[in-house]
Amino acid sequence: MIVLAADHGGYLLKEEVKKHLDAKGVQYIDCGSYTGESVDYPDMAKLACEKIQSGEAEKGIIFCGTGIGISIAANKMKGIRCCVCSDTFSAKYTRLHNDANVLSMGGRVVGPGLACEMVDIFLETEFEGGRHARRVEKLAQLEENWK
Ligand code: RB5
Repeated sequence: MIVLAADHGGYLLKEEVKKHLDAKGVQYIDCGSYTGESVDYPDMAKLACEKIQSGEAEKGIIFCGTGIGISIAANKMKGIRCCVCSDTFSAKYTRLHNDANVLSMGGRVVGPGLACEMVDIFLETEFEGGRHARRVEKLAQLEENWK
């Protein structure tokens, strides 16, 4: 299961990605925004990432105007490794090397074609493990020492 969320800056791109996921038969939970009304990106990040923390969703795709604000918020939640991407190389390597569980994109930065390509790569690429597992474990340790 995938979870989606967006603020008003990312709402339209979220809707485009939903059409793409529907066409592929990928199931998702949409945490909103449902209308494109002005909402605060930390609230939307929280709604989506809680679904990952609870185990209801395995991965998330989140959106704001730049993808930056909502990714900062997501990365403040335990167990979340969120990468803001605007190229397919980064979408691939953040799975291979960082085991990212959330992809963030900017609705004012990338178009729907590129966004959907990044979504496919992000969802289909497995974590490489090995030496990268040690580094990802160190990310979790940083969280434990959060000050
Ligand atoms: C909202 O106008 C905008 O600031 C937000 O979508 C995002 O880009 C923040 O990082």
